[in-house]
Amino acid sequence: MTLLDILPSLGQAAPPRFDHAIWPATTHSDEEGRLCVGDVPLADVADEFGTPAYIIDETDFRRRARRYRQALRGVEVVYAGKSLLTTAVARWVREEGLGIDVCSAGELFVALAGGMDPARIVMHGNAKSPAELREAVRVGVGRIVLDSCMEIAYLAGLARRRQPVLVRVTPNFSGMQDIHGHRAVTTGISDQKFGFSLEGNHAADTVKRVLAHPILDLVGLHCHIGSQVTDPALYGEAIRRMIAAMADIRAQHGVILTELNIGGGHAIPYVAGDREINLDELAAIIEHALDEACAIEHFPRPTIVVEPGRAISGRAGVTLYRVCSVKTQPGGRTFVAVDGGMSDNPRVSLYGAQYTIALANRRSLESKQRFTIADRHCEAGDEIARDIELPADLHPGDLLAVACTGAYHHSMASNYNMVGRPPVVAVKDGQARQLVRRETIADLLARDCG
Ligand code: LLP
Repeated sequence: MTLLDILPSLGQAAPPRFDHAIWPATTHSDEEGRLCVGDVPLADVADEFGTPAYIIDETDFRRRARRYRQALRGVEVVYAGKSLLTTAVARWVREEGLGIDVCSAGELFVALAGGMDPARIVMHGNAKSPAELREAVRVGVGRIVLDSCMEIAYLAGLARRRQPVLVRVTPNFSGMQDIHGHRAVTTGISDQKFGFSLEGNHAADTVKRVLAHPILDLVGLHCHIGSQVTDPALYGEAIRRMIAAMADIRAQHGVILTELNIGGGHAIPYVAGDREINLDELAAIIEHALDEACAIEHFPRPTIVVEPGRAISGRAGVTLYRVCSVKTQPGGRTFVAVDGGMSDNPRVSLYGAQYTIALANRRSLESKQRFTIADRHCEAGDEIARDIELPADLHPGDLLAVACTGAYHHSMASNYNMVGRPPVVAVKDGQARQLVRRETIADLLARDCG
């Protein structure tokens, strides 16, 4: 008999464990103390689909997509498919009235299979192959964002009717300190592979090249200033610089561009204390910067497009692991080994990402103890979280849920150590539905030609 059985009121008195700025909107714990998302106990998902598993709260995803449309009125919202894409996700995006940005033929065809209107697809990539461009043209992708001179030549040769395009530029934010992105995700500066710099004549020369091909219909400019941007004022600054560049293009070439895509990168919190971007502030800043910059340049207001990925998909996702062992090293840490790791979440080793983790299968009134959550892969340094507090009675068989794993987890998963990738399971209104099944050993062997 547990303390809870003797004093059930203790359960009610327990503080709410799930901060909805980090956990999916529908997260709660049931009367047995089991973590539930979409009204489904995660322990049931583990029983039915095994672990590890990516669980996606459809309600959370749709609410955040809807919230973008409500907060950013007059702005076109294009969901960044690289963060999480399955055919069902593409369908949710379509039903919520958003477009999709894709950056490979794979993402393009998943979006199309999910029923996305090709006209609402934006195609990205700094190394699109001729084959990918051919497919994009064939299916009638709405916008192609040009990222190299080679691509301009390929596309001009492939297009059969006028293809709307944007030129990706870098607004040169190198002096700014506010972008908290890791080096690997800092994209708004000049010295990196994406886009054409506004410095010198790079962007202007590129525009000239595009305009030399009448089959390419240059409608606007694109920029993406980085990842995990918490300060919305940076987007205001990007708009000012880009409108100035559009005014220069008008002066040099007599062309008025009508679209300005300011990319994604909107920050979300992963652990308590992290900041997130405020969408109402972002909306006000976009409006203000656009009014101001267009007035200064006497430039007609272009359509603004944003491309949030993580801010829509990130918090909808939770990864569920089973505890395999708990081991205290003499004079060292206590390690909890779980049945997944860097193959389903490479973000810890890539970016030093931090996560919020909770016991998912039961309530524990034990005091807290510090644990390191170690993964199953063959690298000593590989951990999902270091020195986090969990109930001291954590034991093999328990389930751990890791929050904020909807974005860049399923989409970045690998087969390291020949581990099959986890299923993606959508939960909603008490129902769990598999969107992508677990990868099996047969799947792995199927690609091996012997
Ligand atoms: N648009 C463009 C052109 C992008 O390059 C990206 C992300 C986005 C939109 C969406 O960014 P978001 O709103 O999701 O931050 N693997 C890294 C993130 C790389 C993002 C690259 N580009 C991570 O796990 O944090």
